[in-house]
Amino acid sequence: MSDPLNIVVLAAGKGTRMRSDLPKVLHRLAGRPLLHHVLDRAAELAPSRLCVVYGHGGTAVPEALHGRELGLALQEPQRGTGHAVMQALPHLDLAAPVLVLYGDVPLIDAATLAPLVQSARSGRLALLTARLPDPTGYGRIVRVGASVQRIVEHRDAGPTELAIDEVNTGIMAIPGPRLAGWLDRLRADNAQAEYYLTDLVAFAVADGVGVDTSLTSDHWAVAGVNTPAQLAELERIYQRRLAAQLQERGVLLADPARLDVRGALLCGNDVHIDVNCVFEGAVTLGDGVSVGPNCVIRDSRIASGARVEAFSWLDQVEVGANAVVGPYARLRPGTQLAEGVHVGNFVELKNSQVGAGSKINHLSYVGDATIGAMVNIGAGTITCNYDGANKYRTVIGDGAFIGSDTQLVAPVRVGARATIGAGSTITRDAPDDTLTLSRSKQFSVPAWKRPSKT
Ligand code: UD1
Ligand code: CA
Repeated sequence: MSDPLNIVVLAAGKGTRMRSDLPKVLHRLAGRPLLHHVLDRAAELAPSRLCVVYGHGGTAVPEALHGRELGLALQEPQRGTGHAVMQALPHLDLAAPVLVLYGDVPLIDAATLAPLVQSARSGRLALLTARLPDPTGYGRIVRVGASVQRIVEHRDAGPTELAIDEVNTGIMAIPGPRLAGWLDRLRADNAQAEYYLTDLVAFAVADGVGVDTSLTSDHWAVAGVNTPAQLAELERIYQRRLAAQLQERGVLLADPARLDVRGALLCGNDVHIDVNCVFEGAVTLGDGVSVGPNCVIRDSRIASGARVEAFSWLDQVEVGANAVVGPYARLRPGTQLAEGVHVGNFVELKNSQVGAGSKINHLSYVGDATIGAMVNIGAGTITCNYDGANKYRTVIGDGAFIGSDTQLVAPVRVGARATIGAGSTITRDAPDDTLTLSRSKQFSVPAWKRPSKT
């Protein structure tokens, strides 16, 4: 059991500059709400109590946190960061330190936070600070000599204070036993008529409690999201860092700036990923897999040696070893391709299993089908799996050959090594080892003349 720790995540701010009905902390970075990123980093510190202070968006924030073990405190109206922490008090164990994080600062990392928690555990107030070339808008760290005296908010600062470039990132750790007394002493007698959490610094100094600062040089780790532009900027930083991690593990990225991972991408050795690919959810790429440009792959597993060619879309799919998919393939949920399967251009598969070595190379729709090994599905084949009310399966045996432009009206079975003549509409089961076709007879009209203009 680790030592008790409280973490409070402030997430009640309005986010006016997002100009959005969605609460700011629910805007997505790498496909997940900002708040989830913060909570994941918080979890790495194994807090015994975790509380999210929310405000805007009605039940949206509680719903987004459904199923997580944490306290929720509604702050309504929002009267400042100090006021926000007051709302969290009933959820906290004040014998333990209290770490305050912001729900709109998604790239924070546990290693940066750990020293702050240590300080607060030994009874000191700890601030995470940064030196910014442009400190406009931030609270400034006011020191006398080396020791911190107080934090002054930008809007309350005079000219000398405005010249200070060491800023408050807003992240702080407070000795629990001091918190309630200090919050009681907060007054909203400032430029914004708010209860400033930052005023705790002056209280600590007055009470003879030491104030530690931890200066971070990773400005992205403490950068907040206030605008769509900042959100996009942090997205790029996140993606570049992730791409660098993949490269360190040997993944060959055609361009690390043109890759988007919105979830967890697990790669074997010698994986090659071309430009503009998007990976969502949990995706596994085996050894030697190559993914062509402009592919979207979500919650899928691609086995070793397989190739996904340009412009393919895969969602909840399993691709067997050495299979080839695309270009321009759409593989929908429940598609399972065995080893060596080829799926070509303009082919859509859904909820279908395709056996080893089978080929569906051109312009086909295969839904709710079980296809054996070494089957050849000709161009333009369609499984008619839906009668407008219910869905039915098509079953095709090993070694079958389906001629081009065939409609397989499910439920229907095509036997092993059966051949279906091109252009057939198959409504009844086709036996093994047999040619089956349904085709209107071809005829020619010798005396026929083309109409001509009168
Ligand atoms: C705060 C700090 C400032 C620091 C800056 C860093 C105070 C008084 N000032 O500024 O020193 O440099 O962060 O970005 O603490 N929030 C609530 N309820 C509220 C107000 C804010 O939950 O009533 C949350 C916001 O959602 C946000 C965070 O607190 O996550 C910071 O709020 P914001 O308004 O961005 O910061 P400032 O008060 O401007
Ligand atoms: Ca701010």
